[in-house]
Amino acid sequence: MTGVTGSLGAHVVANLVSQSSVHKVYCLVRAPSKASARSRVRDSLRERLAYHKLSLSARSKIVALPSSFGEANLGLGQSDYDEVSGSITHLIHLAWSVNFNKGLESFEGDCIAGAKNLMNLCLAAKRPEPASFNFCSSVSATAATPGNVVPEALPASLSYAQGMGYAQSKLVTEHLCDRASQQTGLRARVLRVGQIIGDTQHGVWNATEAIPLMLQTAKTIGALPELDETPYWLPVDTVAKACSEIACSGAESGVMNIVNDKNFHWTRDLLPLLRETGLQFETVPQQEWIRRLRASEADPVKNPPIKLVDFFASKYDNNKPRRSLAHATSRAQGFSPSLQNAGVIGSELVGKIVCQLDKRWSAQEVSEAEPAVIVLGGPCGSGKSTVARALSDALNLPMIEGDDMHSKVARQKMGSHIPLTDADRLSWLAHIRGAVMDRLRTTGAPAVLVTCSALRTMYRQELRALQELAGVRTVFIMLETDSREELKSRLTKRQDHYMAPGMVDAQVDLLEAAGDDEIDVVPVNSRQALDEVVGECQSIITAAIEV
Ligand SMILES: NC(=O)c1ccc[n+]([C@@H]2O[C@H](COP(=O)([O-])OP(=O)(O)OC[C@H]3O[C@@H](n4cnc5c(N)ncnc54)[C@H](OP(=O)(O)O)[C@@H]3O)[C@@H](O)[C@H]2O)c1
Repeated sequence: MTGVTGSLGAHVVANLVSQSSVHKVYCLVRAPSKASARSRVRDSLRERLAYHKLSLSARSKIVALPSSFGEANLGLGQSDYDEVSGSITHLIHLAWSVNFNKGLESFEGDCIAGAKNLMNLCLAAKRPEPASFNFCSSVSATAATPGNVVPEALPASLSYAQGMGYAQSKLVTEHLCDRASQQTGLRARVLRVGQIIGDTQHGVWNATEAIPLMLQTAKTIGALPELDETPYWLPVDTVAKACSEIACSGAESGVMNIVNDKNFHWTRDLLPLLRETGLQFETVPQQEWIRRLRASEADPVKNPPIKLVDFFASKYDNNKPRRSLAHATSRAQGFSPSLQNAGVIGSELVGKIVCQLDKRWSAQEVSEAEPAVIVLGGPCGSGKSTVARALSDALNLPMIEGDDMHSKVARQKMGSHIPLTDADRLSWLAHIRGAVMDRLRTTGAPAVLVTCSALRTMYRQELRALQELAGVRTVFIMLETDSREELKSRLTKRQDHYMAPGMVDAQVDLLEAAGDDEIDVVPVNSRQALDEVVGECQSIITAAIEV
């Protein structure tokens, strides 16, 4: 896969690794090293709230490799190139410079030549037939198609592409796919994708994209345009499933349109749904909206939508009737049940999207990050204290040993192999909260590290109360292992601890995986070498403190 550090790619990889039929996903990423490629992939999935629910076995299928698509060997060393070509069955190419201001030439190196180099990797597959190549194109490549419907085929003319380098570069590459398929027998599919919006689970949408920036003007200029448009949007997780389904199908080469076949009206349907979420704005004619946007704050840091004012003006600073172009999708639907079953945007999804965007808009206004509590969680024997001490030294952060906060009675119970009750744990967690607030106040540190098993959602929830009580953000780094035996053997080696090895089973049985909404949970494989565990935790904490 390429493009995993982007929005669609994060959802595709999360979808693929959750399937039992998928053995491994190589993610080719722009990065200076393997460690950095790994953390870029993890951060991307976290940003899209697609990481905390992935199991250890699913995460273990991800292999991140630093790459450079403009180079013939993709910037992979010989052994990595051989490894990938030795096992590749499908390639999903999503990486692209999503920049509407650049000319066609600037797409030549990384993007267009990159696509050719990736097709060569498919052809180098050491199997009876080449790996399939699945290229993510865009409906902008055919946006000037005459008539009302864009077929699932190459357009009759290059002039059908929207007049910008991005769209033209996609169309050039659609043609490259077609030629490669004809000349080499490569199964090269073009997945022509329409407008992607936030995911159905959480509503996360890149706040810097054109439509989220338009929506932000409800806040910055208090107005949204009355457009006579009927968009055919699809949530990013639906597009991701469609891409995986088609890529892993037996579909032959050719074009498939991944576009919703159901639409809605911007002014009659969407604007009322936006109001329902509590967003307050005036609705104004499109040219008046452009006028107000042009007259608004010129500093893009304070007023991000101003960045795209010329792009918006090119679309809306006129009285021309809007054109609505539908897309043939029967071929794509034939290979993708998710596309077939996609619904139209409704109040639930709009509510989630506005809620997520609002968090990002508010974060743009806040100048100082809130302090954080970093909880090193996991059952006994998972290495919480060792890792926390190493992190405290490396990052110069104060540390609280959660076990020290247990009452004497609770410690005696644990030493006598008597599991704690929820009442014991709630009073323990209250002590921890107090210690966190105290330590942050007295040290002025940006974060405090706490070791605390935090095995169940309700225990984690107790610590999340710190947000309400003292404006402290929580991050739960859960040290995971799939081996109880290893935990027991680690405990047996410990001399001076009241936690008996017999407690491992009780703790592992109690452990609850992160729920859908537990987006502050970051699982880490504790069976890696200690320095790898510490390195991974360090990059998670650094990113959290910098937020
Ligand atoms: N979003 C939409 O509504 C939409 C609609 C139609 C088609 N698409 C297509 O869907 C795909 C994914 O889009 P997205 O929304 O996920 O975009 P995104 O969030 O901006 O992600 C873009 C991805 O492409 C990579 N990339 C950008 N420039 C690159 C370059 N010069 N060389 C190598 N990699 C580069 C980025 O890597 P870095 O992190 O290293 O920058 C990132 O992984 C793209 O092909 C896009 O054209 C998107």
